[in-house]
Amino acid sequence: MTAVEPHIRDAWHREDKEENVGSPRYLIHTLGCQMNERDSEIMAGQLETMGYAPTAAEDEADLIIINTCAVRGSAEDHALGHIGRLKQLKAQHPHMTLAVAGCMAQEPKTIAWLKRHAPHVDLVFGTHNLHQLRRLLDEAEQHEEMLVEVWKSAGDTLAEHVPSRRKQGVRAQVNIIYGCDKFCTYCIVPFTRGRERSRRLDDVLAEVQALAGEGYEAITFLGQNVNSYGHDFDPPVDLADLLTRVEPIEGIRWLHFMTPHPRDFSQKLLEFIGQSHKVSRQLHLPVQAGSNPILRRMNRKYTREQYLDLIARARSVIEDVTFTTDIIVGFPGETEEDFALTLDLVQQVRFDSAFTFLYSAREGTPAARWEDRDPVPNPVKKDRLNRLMALQYQISWEANQHLLGTTPVVLVEGRSKKDPHVWAARTQQGKVVLVERETETDLTDRFVPVRITVAKTFYVAGRIAGEPLNAPPRRAKSIPMW
Ligand code: SAH
Ligand code: SF4
Ligand code: F3S
Repeated sequence: MTAVEPHIRDAWHREDKEENVGSPRYLIHTLGCQMNERDSEIMAGQLETMGYAPTAAEDEADLIIINTCAVRGSAEDHALGHIGRLKQLKAQHPHMTLAVAGCMAQEPKTIAWLKRHAPHVDLVFGTHNLHQLRRLLDEAEQHEEMLVEVWKSAGDTLAEHVPSRRKQGVRAQVNIIYGCDKFCTYCIVPFTRGRERSRRLDDVLAEVQALAGEGYEAITFLGQNVNSYGHDFDPPVDLADLLTRVEPIEGIRWLHFMTPHPRDFSQKLLEFIGQSHKVSRQLHLPVQAGSNPILRRMNRKYTREQYLDLIARARSVIEDVTFTTDIIVGFPGETEEDFALTLDLVQQVRFDSAFTFLYSAREGTPAARWEDRDPVPNPVKKDRLNRLMALQYQISWEANQHLLGTTPVVLVEGRSKKDPHVWAARTQQGKVVLVERETETDLTDRFVPVRITVAKTFYVAGRIAGEPLNAPPRRAKSIPMW
């Protein structure tokens, strides 16, 4: 899972189709990671089978769902602020249903806050029961007060064959494992997402096969800890086994997975990627910190030396492999010496890019208690973050210079928001590529070779250097059932 700075995204854009006239409208705001994005697709699928149509305008919506993230205080504040602001809209549209879902809903403190400060919310449900949205909405309608139904765990069977509404295009995300058993001492996710549960290999395969049939060409496997996949089966299987079975599926060009945990990254998986023509050679390997005492207190279960050894082994078996990472700055008790070791590790690995975060105390986690005793003062935290970012930007700029003169295949995502004369695209390694728009042909969702002529810190740019590899995509009309 790539750590994305939380920001509100409109999951679905207005689709003013004729068949939607008169339909109730829904709007899902999605915060947080890809896991939440995928959950929003599953909520949207259920809503569309109930006759709802999407809208991007809050004042047009009959149902608004805020799909929340609890990973840092900033994400929580963002969601609570938004929920607070919807009070007025709800007063103007009393028939509108307002629901709060996602990771924050799994925390009792959120429920207490909502009851006290946001009685205009109609329904609260969590990460384990979102597949029951139809029933939840029916019951909420019967309720005068806020209906809260949050399950503590997912139960014995995983929900399969729930309708889902994927974004149009050729990229699809597929859950392979839910939950996390790692319990890093700073992290709330094991509490909001529960224990690890792998989806059956046959279910994943069937889903990818169906997606290929619908015209999807780039698949990302999702999990908090994807390389724990299958360890809970008897006999166990692993991510390399799954990829081996998926790779031959016709029509799929690119495979990616996120997020692997450095400790569980097997040699078998490295070797598989080394010889694969479909699996991305960009590995997102969150390191979090560069000093052993901090890694130990974070309960990351690897040392700096083991992490560096993994990077070296990956480089020796995967040609042109690149790395990205997540780093937390200002973990309780982090000294200047500890931080210097983080900078040193970043220098050694030379990540293509890094998501860098200020440590944020999460109530109920062990590190939150240490934060009370031994916090890194805020100005020091911020200064360290700035130094880390400056170093990483320099390295990202240098890494991008190596792309000059190369001709990677990129997947065009659409017109650049800033400049309509430019296509925004990505390489299989996840690099943003801006491509000059030389003709009127719509290249959205096409795989095209691009000659790189410009390299900056956050993107590279270039010109089309050949015909698209794929035909214009077919648009999936039906709502896939997964
Ligand atoms: N399962 C993934 C991602 C978890 S959340 C993993 O293990 O890497 C995404 C990122 O958020 C983490 O990698 C971590 O860098 C960051 N994060 C998690 N908890 C945090 C906290 N309490 N404060 C600041 N950053 C945090
Ligand atoms: Fe959180 Fe650690 Fe699990 Fe990642 S591995 S989700 S950081 S507890
Ligand atoms: Fe993802 Fe945030 Fe939950 S990062 S798993 S949405 S706490």
